[in-house]
Amino acid sequence: MAQFHAVVLAAGQGVRMKSSIPKVLHPLAGLPLVAHVLKAATAAGAASCSVVIPPNAKGFEALATPIETRFFEQRERLGTAHAVLTAREALSGVEGPVLVLYGDTPLVSPDSIRTLASAVENRADMAVIGFHAKDPKGYGRLITSDAGELLAIREEKDATPEERVLSLCNSGIMAFRGHLLLPLLDRIGNKNKAGEYYLTDAVEIARAQGRRIACEVIGEDEVRGVNTRAQLAEVEALLQTRLRSQAMHGGATLLSPETVTFSHDTVTGQDVLIEPSVFFGPRVVIEDGATIKAFSYIEDAHIERGAVVGPFARLRPGTRVGPKAKIGNFVELKAADIDEGAKVNHLSYIGDTHIGAGANIGAGTITCNYDGFRKHKTDIGAGAFIGSNSALVAPVRIGEGAYIGSGSVISKDVPADSLALTRAPQVHREGWAGRLRARHKPDHSK
Ligand code: UD1
Ligand code: CA
Repeated sequence: MAQFHAVVLAAGQGVRMKSSIPKVLHPLAGLPLVAHVLKAATAAGAASCSVVIPPNAKGFEALATPIETRFFEQRERLGTAHAVLTAREALSGVEGPVLVLYGDTPLVSPDSIRTLASAVENRADMAVIGFHAKDPKGYGRLITSDAGELLAIREEKDATPEERVLSLCNSGIMAFRGHLLLPLLDRIGNKNKAGEYYLTDAVEIARAQGRRIACEVIGEDEVRGVNTRAQLAEVEALLQTRLRSQAMHGGATLLSPETVTFSHDTVTGQDVLIEPSVFFGPRVVIEDGATIKAFSYIEDAHIERGAVVGPFARLRPGTRVGPKAKIGNFVELKAADIDEGAKVNHLSYIGDTHIGAGANIGAGTITCNYDGFRKHKTDIGAGAFIGSNSALVAPVRIGEGAYIGSGSVISKDVPADSLALTRAPQVHREGWAGRLRARHKPDHSK
């Protein structure tokens, strides 16, 4: 298939979201809505892309794609046709298909985008994706002839009562032959209830010119638009269902799938076990045979073969849990690099730390990595044993196989295979407790 250019419309205000950030930057499974659309377009084989964004908005610069992407600011929001025209510079001279996608319709699949691109490449001048809406409210309706040809798209505000009962709706995803797009758009006016330049008017204009218009009908779930927070939650639920199925399909067991929240990019291997109520932020990889126990919160972490994490573990960005390592309850890891078979089983904070293979970190161990100004590193050698309730004041190195006595505050490097302890010696005062109690005996004579 010839390569196509994608135009992603993302300049809408999104007033119904009642938010201080642009609608299309709201995250869905940890990735902005519009980034999902860019990802799908890229996967479908787009050669280049134009993104139409609001003026002076922050947060769009981070939308990196592997394909050539240009951003165009739409200074006034005059409608979807006007929005496409904002990218005029990138569109003039394009010969192959141009796909228009809406930044607020994030679940569209690469397959559907490809189908539409090949429709205009092979048999039509223009193509539209429609769907049967359970509740068509708010969508543009597809007006078709008895023979099923697409005649027009009517926005709800402008529709007659008879048109409003139609359930076949416009998804917003359209494709055009490159050289036809700009002349079509230039003929679109704004004489409608909203006073906007509607991209959807392209259908009637193209028909009047005798152009061939294809219409593909796909399932509603793929083209759900996000205009409100409630719709955002619905789309999130749909995507989570997909992500859970993907994980299970790949050989992971989810004991209670509906309670596990994945990120758009969570990678799970075979024979991974995920217990109930686990949250994954972006950039998590779980290798084969690893177990994530209940109530864990994990982001930007790599969990290697056969490792066990949780219950109640928190893995913060930059963490690697090596093969067969164990991270237990109420343990927080940040930028921690943990080698094979090491154990941090209870109640610890381990930050900016390397732990060598087989080391054992006792309950309540804290790495003091922050001095109020800068972060410092801790290095714990392979096979070291850190006694419970120790504080390791970074920067500090614990040599291989060293022992740290419980309750120590370690601020100097410890040589390999030695014992370090900083607690005060234990003293006994015999009979002391009895004397104390005798002194406090109540006097019944008064
Ligand atoms: C649009 C379609 C409607 C379709 C529905 C599907 C039009 C006129 N209507 O309606 O037929 O059923 O999507 O979800 O196209 N945008 C801009 N600049 C603008 C206006 C909009 O960039 O001036 C962007 C928005 O950010 C959004 C997309 O275009 O990503 C669609 O705009 P929106 O206002 O949400 O259109 P709908 O009323 O949902
Ligand atoms: Ca919309």
